[in-house]
Formats: sequence, structure tokens, C-alpha cells
Amino acid sequence: MAEVMLDGVRKLFGSVTAVEDFTLSIGNGEFVVFVGPSGCGKSTTLRMLAGLEDVSSGSISIDGRAVNNIHPKDRDIAMVFQNYALYPHLNVFENMSFGLRAKRLPRLEIESRTHEAAEILGLEDLLKRRPGELSGGQKQRVAMGRAIVRQPKVFLFDEPLSNLDAKLRHKMRAEMKLLHQRVQTTTVYVTHDQVEAMTLADRIVIMNEGRIEQVGTPDEVYKQPASQFVASFIGSPAMNFATGEISNSGRKTVLETDSGVVIALASCHVPQGRRVHLGFRPEHMHLADAAKPPKGHISISGNITVVEPMGHETVLTCDGGFGEIVGKYEGDKHFRPGESVQFHIRTDRLHYFDLSTGIRI
Ligand SMILES: Nc1ncnc2c1ncn2[C@@H]1O[C@H](COP(=O)(O)OP(=O)(O)OP(=O)(O)O)[C@@H](O)[C@H]1O
Ligand SMILES: [Mg+2]
Repeated sequence: MAEVMLDGVRKLFGSVTAVEDFTLSIGNGEFVVFVGPSGCGKSTTLRMLAGLEDVSSGSISIDGRAVNNIHPKDRDIAMVFQNYALYPHLNVFENMSFGLRAKRLPRLEIESRTHEAAEILGLEDLLKRRPGELSGGQKQRVAMGRAIVRQPKVFLFDEPLSNLDAKLRHKMRAEMKLLHQRVQTTTVYVTHDQVEAMTLADRIVIMNEGRIEQVGTPDEVYKQPASQFVASFIGSPAMNFATGEISNSGRKTVLETDSGVVIALASCHVPQGRRVHLGFRPEHMHLADAAKPPKGHISISGNITVVEPMGHETVLTCDGGFGEIVGKYEGDKHFRPGESVQFHIRTDRLHYFDLSTGIRI
């Protein structure tokens, strides 16, 4: 196990800045997930940690030792990629123990480490099979096994589950979690899937265009997103937004949206005149019969455009007059496009972001 420190790390590819001003301290045994849209610099950051890419400026240290100039094989890390790249002509045991044999460890130690990893991953019965005789999930487990046997200080994973179908991905996600609970090795895990990030991480690093937008626990980034970018990236279906200016109407504070729809805000800490994105999540919108919201709530009305029954809930896409809004409903009522509906939302579930900077207010 080890601490990992990235300090002001930057990566240029010619004139393209792939990573900028990346500073992060990862604790001993911590499971940190980098998440963000395609091209935001996740893999590049991971590859710099692994030593597969040079750092343009800044420094990286593992366990207190600067590794900028240390060869990948001497960094004591193990990396698992999306394409597991197993040797097709070697069986599972040989694939898993390949690195140890290359290091010429004693035969008994190779055997005990490989069997231990196989036991952790439930691969004991498959040790004699070749990759061609394994399912996708089993191959992925062998790739993880190859990393585990090395007993590295740090695990690096780059989208290790993205080749698997949805069901298997879910199963392997749970296995990743169990694995980390057992070996407790410091782990950096890259994905563009926010659900994977939320479910696996001790802390999530949300990246956008080469920069860190926010670092926090899953709970923090969901409840207190630092920017509109984070707010719209974390959560599914995504957060809804209404854009406009905070103003006063009579004695009430309202959001005058740019399309003219006025939303009464029961209470609001944002000063008058400020232009904002008002954000609210689908799961916090409660379908109501009355237009008048109870104390401490706001009311939003919409016209249903799409109804998506999911069994345990129904997702309603509506035209809110100021834009599209998506709400969730857990009940037995049936809806039709064209129906008008009313949602109530608790004011402490509302998020305000500055219109020009996107930063949380
Ligand atoms: N070898 C390279 N040469 C030039 N540009 C590169 C190179 N590798 C990556 N880039 C650029 O750096 C940026 C970050 O790429 P990176 O692979 O880190 O993104 P990512 O977040 O891992 O995306 P994805 O989710 O698609 O894997 C992108 O703009 C990419 O085009
Ligand atoms: Mg990538």
C-alpha cells in the first residue's frame, strides 16, 4: 500500500493540453475514481502515474518517492486495461503468474501467490483453461489476477469493465469492491460511467477538459456539486436546469427565466439581480395534485412529452416552458403525452450556479 501524490501535473501533446494543473493526494489504501467525458484526460493522467507517459511539468510521487524519472517497471504498480491482453497460448495459471516467472521468483512463492489470487477471484477451477475457453468476465478476472499476484503498492485500472455487457459489468463492479475490501491496495480507477464512479469510489475526481472540477466523496459530489458541470454529470437521469435572473415580485423572490416563465422561490440565498442556472434533480421532483406547494417547497409545472415506464418507476419528460425537464414518479398512475403535471420540490434540494462561471453559489 502507498500514498500517491500528484502536484501541478501537466501534459502537453504538441500544442494540445491534455492535462492541466492536476494536484491530488491519494491516501494509503484509498479507492479513487477519475471520471469525466471522453477526452478529458483521465487515461493520460493514469498513464503518467504508471510512467507510460512523461510529465510535461509538475511532479508525481508514490510512497514519498518522486517517480518522474523512474521506469514504469520500477514504480511497483500494476495496471489493468479495458482490453485484458491475455496470452492466448498460456493457461490461466501461466497468464496470472507470468510476471512473477519473469522476475524469477522461487517456484513455491509463485504457486502460493497465484493460488491465493485465484482464490480471491474465484478462479481456482479455471487455472488450466486457456483464455479462448473463458467468458468475458472470467478473462477480466484473470487480468485482475495478473495484477494482484504482483502485490503492487498501487493498482491502476483504465475502464476495466467497459467491454462487458451491462449485467456482467454490475457483477464485476461488486467483485471489484469485494476485492478492494480484501486486499486494500491503493487504487486509481478510470471510467466515464458515473454510476461506476459513485458505487466504487471512496473519493471521486471529476475531470473536464484536462482539469479537476471537483474532488469529493460520492455523497459530496451528488449533494454539493461544485459546478454546473459536476451537477449535470453526476446523477441519472441528469439534473434539470432553469436559466434566468433572481428578482422580486411583490414580496416574493422569484426566478425570472429567460423564456418568461416565472418560478416562485420560497426562500433563496442568492441576491437579487444575479443570473443563475437553477438546478433540481428528477428524483427530488414530487408529482402533486395541487398547484400551491406546501411550505418549504417550490412548484414547477410541465406538459408531458414522453412517458417511460420502468416498472418500479416512471420517467416523465416534460416541457417546462423554460426548457425540458425530466421527473420521476414511483406510483401506479398512468400518464399520456400532452397531460399537464405539477411537481413540488423542497427548497433545500435546489442548486444555484452562476450563469457565467458555472460555479455553485
Ligand atoms: N498520444 C497522444 N497524442 C496526441 N494527443 C493525445 C495523445 N493521447 C491523448 N491525446 C489527447 O489528450 C486528450 C486526453 O486524452 P485521454 O486519452 O487522456 O482522454 P480520456 O479522458 O481517457 O478519454 P476516453 O474516455 O475517451 O478514454 C484528448 O484530447 C486526446 O486526444
Ligand atoms: Mg481513456
